[in-house]
Amino acid sequence: MDRWKTIIEPFRIHSIEPIRMTTREERAARLEEAGHNLFGLHANDVLIDLLTDSGTGAMSRDQWAGIQRGDESYAGSPSWFRFRDAVQALFPFKHVIPTHQGRAAEKILFSVICGPGRAVPSNAHFDTTRANIETTGAEAVDLTPRHDPSEILPFKGDIDVAALDRFIDERGAASIPAVFMTITNNSNGGQPVSMANLRAVRAVCDAHGLPLFLDACRFAENAWFIRQREAGFESTPIPDIVREMASLADGMTMSAKKDGLANIGGWLALDDDDIAERCRDVLILTEGFPTYGGLAGRDLEAIAEGLHEVVEEDYLRYRIRSTAYLGEALAEAGVPVVQPIGGHAVYLDARSLLPHIPPLQYPGQALACALYVEGGIRGCEIGTVMFGLRPDGTESPASMDLVRLAVPRRTYTQSHVDYVIEVVRWVAERASQLRGLRITQAPRSLRHFTARFAPIA
Ligand code: F0G
Repeated sequence: MDRWKTIIEPFRIHSIEPIRMTTREERAARLEEAGHNLFGLHANDVLIDLLTDSGTGAMSRDQWAGIQRGDESYAGSPSWFRFRDAVQALFPFKHVIPTHQGRAAEKILFSVICGPGRAVPSNAHFDTTRANIETTGAEAVDLTPRHDPSEILPFKGDIDVAALDRFIDERGAASIPAVFMTITNNSNGGQPVSMANLRAVRAVCDAHGLPLFLDACRFAENAWFIRQREAGFESTPIPDIVREMASLADGMTMSAKKDGLANIGGWLALDDDDIAERCRDVLILTEGFPTYGGLAGRDLEAIAEGLHEVVEEDYLRYRIRSTAYLGEALAEAGVPVVQPIGGHAVYLDARSLLPHIPPLQYPGQALACALYVEGGIRGCEIGTVMFGLRPDGTESPASMDLVRLAVPRRTYTQSHVDYVIEVVRWVAERASQLRGLRITQAPRSLRHFTARFAPIA
């Protein structure tokens, strides 16, 4: 490293996508038409889209070259072998099963290993993971230690190991098909999991004879945090940290739309021959032949190349620093954010910022709508709209009301981020003027995608 402090984007721009400029009046009208739900907008009406970091990143020159090289043979395509080798270079599991995205890998695995009476404990299940476990009749259990959102700790994504041990004792190992660790912990603010915690979970699993699986969507970001924050890893190459995490597990599910640096794709990987065979049987029925799964040969190439690029140090340094740059600027301006800043997103604490809006009037939704109207920024409410509806149709406040500003990989420049900082600060300074919302129309489940809202006068 030389003497300069500014961390630059480690790439030049090679093809561009125009952003269509809009006025405040236009955006207010579009939001009204969308029923105050940002999922209902036409993406052309969004200036800076921070709805998700999933599948929204920019591919590199070499990934686009891979798209051209993609071989679409039904069976045994060279693209499959490049994909499999790239996966196994980081995650040396015996079986690699390609799927069209992460949730398809979850669906296949849980349909084979779960079922009524079973339970899968985790540091925090992502919502599709939870839903795929629950549809089999099994229970998805989060054993996240309780932390204050503003408390700064290096590995807030860790599982509560003592609680895990107790849980297995109480339920009995026979009813637990696997323990899951989500790296990084998305539901908990994009927070990393330490190697020490993974080792401790491995020891608990060994003591009870249980397999450990990783939901490894953001594995490279997690490895970077381990290198930055955990003693003993200061000079360990990132691929070695990834392989060490993998060595503690028996298998993984993966969405290549995150740290695969691809726009689509995923996989299931594991060592167990019998489970792998049963998973491949489901794969053939629902996704495709085992050498392409749910993907075209060209997608397999894009992922294989993405896996080489995502563990590069220059990329990860820029990636984690640019997310922190956004979060730290907001925190310095007094905007309440979940601390420390995670790898892929900044989470605004809408409940603290808008104490005059009760949780059942959706402060997160109100803040997300204001960021769109004022600045064309699209974030995502993660709070009472998303989690507040109970199966019996009643409502209760979620544990937090957050707005996630997820940062797509390699997509926005520093001036885009400076603009986001300016807009969020402006809205936060006028927070007392924001009003809550009520729901005017909603489906019975997953209401955050399609519910319609009206502002409360
Ligand atoms: N696991 C985690 C931790 C995730 O964040 C996601 C997706 C999945 C599994 C499912 O993967 O989308 O490829 O089927 N998260 C996206 C998000 C949707 O916005 O956080 P998928």
